[in-house]
Amino acid sequence: MVSLRFLLCFLFVSSVYATIVSHDGRAITIDGHRRVLLSGSIHYPRSTPEMWPDLIKKGKEGGLDAIETYVFWNAHEPTRRQYDFSGKLDLIRFLKTIQDEGLYGVLRIGPYACAEWNYGGFPVWLHNMPGMVFRTTNKAFMDEMQNFTTMIVDMVKKENLFASQGGPIILAQIENEYGNVMGPYGESGKSYIKWCANMAQSLNVGVPWIMCQQNDAPQPMLNTCNGFYCDDFVPNNPNTPKMWTENWTGWFKQWGGKNSHRTTEDVAFSVARFFQRGGTFNNYYMYHGGTNFDRTAGGPYITTSYDYDAPLDEYGNLNQPKYGHLKQLHDVLHSMEKILTYGNISTIDFGNSASATIYRTKEGSSCFFGNGNENSDATISFQGESYVVPAWSVTILPDCKNEAYNTAKITTQTSMMVKKPNEAEDTPSTLKWSWRPENMDNFLLKGKGESTQTQLFDQKVVTNDQSDYLWYMTTVKFKKRDPFLGKNMSLRVNSTAHVLHAFVNGKHIGNQHVENGKFNYVFEKDVKFKSGRNVIALLSITVGLANYGAFFESKPAGITGPISITGRNVDETIVKDLSAHKWSYKTGLNGFENQLFRTESVSKWSVESVPFNRTMTWYKATFKAPLGNDPVVVDLLGLGKGTAWVNGNNIGRYWPAFISSENGCAAKCNYRGPYHAEKCLTNCGEPTQRWYHVPRSFLNAEGDNTLVLFEEMGGNPSLVSFQTTRVGSVCANVYEKNSIELSCDRKPISAIKFASFGNPYGNCGSFEKGTCESSNNTIDILTQECVGKEKCSIDVSTEKFGAPDCTGSVRRLAVEAIC
Ligand code: GAL
Repeated sequence: MVSLRFLLCFLFVSSVYATIVSHDGRAITIDGHRRVLLSGSIHYPRSTPEMWPDLIKKGKEGGLDAIETYVFWNAHEPTRRQYDFSGKLDLIRFLKTIQDEGLYGVLRIGPYACAEWNYGGFPVWLHNMPGMVFRTTNKAFMDEMQNFTTMIVDMVKKENLFASQGGPIILAQIENEYGNVMGPYGESGKSYIKWCANMAQSLNVGVPWIMCQQNDAPQPMLNTCNGFYCDDFVPNNPNTPKMWTENWTGWFKQWGGKNSHRTTEDVAFSVARFFQRGGTFNNYYMYHGGTNFDRTAGGPYITTSYDYDAPLDEYGNLNQPKYGHLKQLHDVLHSMEKILTYGNISTIDFGNSASATIYRTKEGSSCFFGNGNENSDATISFQGESYVVPAWSVTILPDCKNEAYNTAKITTQTSMMVKKPNEAEDTPSTLKWSWRPENMDNFLLKGKGESTQTQLFDQKVVTNDQSDYLWYMTTVKFKKRDPFLGKNMSLRVNSTAHVLHAFVNGKHIGNQHVENGKFNYVFEKDVKFKSGRNVIALLSITVGLANYGAFFESKPAGITGPISITGRNVDETIVKDLSAHKWSYKTGLNGFENQLFRTESVSKWSVESVPFNRTMTWYKATFKAPLGNDPVVVDLLGLGKGTAWVNGNNIGRYWPAFISSENGCAAKCNYRGPYHAEKCLTNCGEPTQRWYHVPRSFLNAEGDNTLVLFEEMGGNPSLVSFQTTRVGSVCANVYEKNSIELSCDRKPISAIKFASFGNPYGNCGSFEKGTCESSNNTIDILTQECVGKEKCSIDVSTEKFGAPDCTGSVRRLAVEAIC
């Protein structure tokens, strides 16, 4: 009887709080109402739990309805059936943080993620299971995928986190972009997708399932779009709403690559166009990109920073004007929710890529005026009024009369971020270093590892990806009179190792790293071998495992061979193939095994003659945490390549010695025309990544903190310094009759550096006066209104600034304020 009452009570409670999420041809419906949904990707392990509330809150204030995340299988199940949901991996805590902020959640279980995440999110032990092939009708794979997916669903259900249970999660995703790579899987690929759909469906999550880029998504799976533009997208089923799961707000970075920038105008244009053309769900990928801590960066060659030029920068600061301009767009779209989702749609084509779309209900109408022309502005005449729509922009008129928003007219400030020295240190730039060498004697001189084989193995097979490092070692004997000796000899290694260090008889004979995209190469160095026993020790290093493409799991890693010694003289070349020699293997390095990065590590460190440019060297220094709350970074300029830890927390791989190529950066960036990842690049000829994020929660606010570096190639640590990032100055360049808010992000505005009302030109940091300017002292007016305040709001009007004669151009205010 008691249990029956309990059950009834439970049913009653869940029916009161449950949210019914469904969909029809037009939109996702929540409790029967069609919704306009704006969502943003934030991946929980790319920040820390301490950062989550602030990031999610900023998402909400930025006008988002939902936060989207993948689930990262390899992080949660690093060893088969041993799980980790601690710290940054506390998925449930992340979802509850979303719930606490009153936002919805979109859970992309995958479990294939891609995401520039190591091995696309798959554990390497999975690859090493017998007969394994990923993402096809392979029984072993399907069993493991089902096991993990079910476990995640059960965990989430147990906490009542699906909307059907009263929780925040309104959508779940199975697989990811399989449609883009499915060709090579043939018929099995088609069966696999059906199996995925059935398996997902059988888990009864009570909310719709989505599949990105899956044109044959079986019902009731919802096929959704990913890309820079999705206004053309038509889902495969007329009953599926038009949804966009990845609107790429920028792009990721690879070692040797440059910083990508997708302009604010273009992101806004893509979103507005999508809603103009019937879209109802848009998710920004990424809204906050964050950091690839530890060894989570995918590959090959994804950098530690995953900033992505997202609306929130790597450290969680507002990336302005992107954040603010999109917030305004979200507010306008939300204000039209009913008309957009219930209205009848009609379109007028004006030619030359200009069009008007009118959404009409009995209560009213809303309009979009779109101009997809890259070069010319359009003048649209509509209901007796005339509207200028700039090239490559969309104007939104919630009442079909008044322009509320244009994607190319930014009225949000631009924030210029700066790095400040660590004020907690008296002499901030001179850390006191101690050091010790990586102990490699067993490998370099003895060639002694943990296992031997007469074969060269793929690195993943040996290491299970427990480390970036794998030693391949062998010994070669030469008799005194060996015809080889005395000739010009070289060691030749066919390799796919991302980085390779070669040692012969304890001597470092050289290293090589691959060029991005050219992952097969030959390393060849002249070597003097001696008579008797020679030890060849090759250290192969991975920099993130492949995360994309059909059958990406079997892309080679490490030294694939052949390996040979060549002896040459004038008339003869002799080749000795070592590939089937006895090779001894050792995963990882000693210093990692002995946890030299731990603060409590008791190993000996020396403060004497701290070496520069020494390969395989450990460095350690203590420092004080920078004062205040601004995000902290460590500047690793001068170093080569390696790994850094702060108080034992791995902050990721560093490689400032990897200089981005000189070509391809644009002095000017034109938002007009289709964006692609090679457009609007910066950072040419500079270290690919110089600054590394140190989340505040890794630091002791009082007392000492420890930085440990493992330097693999050789570098100079004397320039290493801790800094904070914050807004340095803010700018605006706004047309008359708009208003602008200037804000130094909770710090007072200290001065107005430039201000002109007329036709000023240039960019933030380099504004110049134009040919007309008001006679009122604009700097004085703004100084009065803004200096000393954390923010100020300015109406850009002739009443305030005077009326300069700018015949032929619309008057503008340009201002630069110092924070
Ligand atoms: C998509 C993928 C994402 C991410 C993105 C590029 O293809 O679904 O996970 O990898 O590309 O950043």
